[in-house]
Amino acid sequence: MTTTRRAAITGWPVAQSRSPLIHGYWLRKHGIDGDYGRVPVAPEDAETFYRDLAAAGLTGCNVTVPHKEIAASLCDWLDPAATAMGAANTLWLDGGRLCGANTDGLGFLGNLDEGAPGWDADPGPAVVLGAGGAARAIVWALLSRGFTPVHVVNRTEDKARAIADHFGTDVVPHGWDKLGTVLGQARVLVNTTSLGMTGKPELDIDLSGLPATALVTDAVYVPLETGLLRAARARGNRTVDGLGMLLHQAVNGFERWFGVRPTVDEDLRALILADL
Ligand code: ATR
Repeated sequence: MTTTRRAAITGWPVAQSRSPLIHGYWLRKHGIDGDYGRVPVAPEDAETFYRDLAAAGLTGCNVTVPHKEIAASLCDWLDPAATAMGAANTLWLDGGRLCGANTDGLGFLGNLDEGAPGWDADPGPAVVLGAGGAARAIVWALLSRGFTPVHVVNRTEDKARAIADHFGTDVVPHGWDKLGTVLGQARVLVNTTSLGMTGKPELDIDLSGLPATALVTDAVYVPLETGLLRAARARGNRTVDGLGMLLHQAVNGFERWFGVRPTVDEDLRALILADL
């Protein structure tokens, strides 16, 4: 009988995921008898699949779109982040019980803690651009560190309102036209839209009202230096790129499945950069 522990990225599709590269690097680095693969799960199969991970030979898995919500709904236990978001991206079995966590927000925090130490020493208003899944995780993360209010600014204001309804009065929704009015108070500005990504238009915003002390970060990491980060740095704002969010969100899952807490080191960053 093999004792190889197996985990995987699951979702529909999974071909684009860089998670196998990250976990493969840590498995080799720590000499662990483990495997991390890709398992596509069609929407009609999702419930059966997540209800019985062991049947698929998995110790646990990551979950990506479109299954994060259904995965959370099937868990016997959820961590506070997954509970707050109603979505899980990391699953494991504990004595037959299906447990779930959402590590996207932790990835965001880990990236800033490492790239801009002290960034949260004096929390205040924050501005999050976009209102998709990444925005939800980042809003949770900012609230968890005491930032308030968190202004969510989105082209489709209804989606920003849905996030505000979910988290309550500390989150304020706006349409794109209100960006100028909230930037002036921001301690942190985060882009979670796909704008600035290779192949998409640049995020074209006027940063002139942004305080010089504000930290600017981007969930986009292809390219590593987005137009937003370039413009922010040119005017003297502290910036952190988004690659570390991807790397740090993987730490807790690896520890759960393989029993070793890995670090985000330079070799890992270089490996992923070479693949971008
Ligand atoms: P994720 O789950 O990674 O956050 P998503 O759910 O596809 O991704 O969200 C993409 C975000 O980029 C959304 O906030 C989207 O705005 P809408 O809600 O109005 O669609 C935003 N976005 C994408 N293209 C945009 C554009 N051209 N201008 C402004 N916002 C854009």
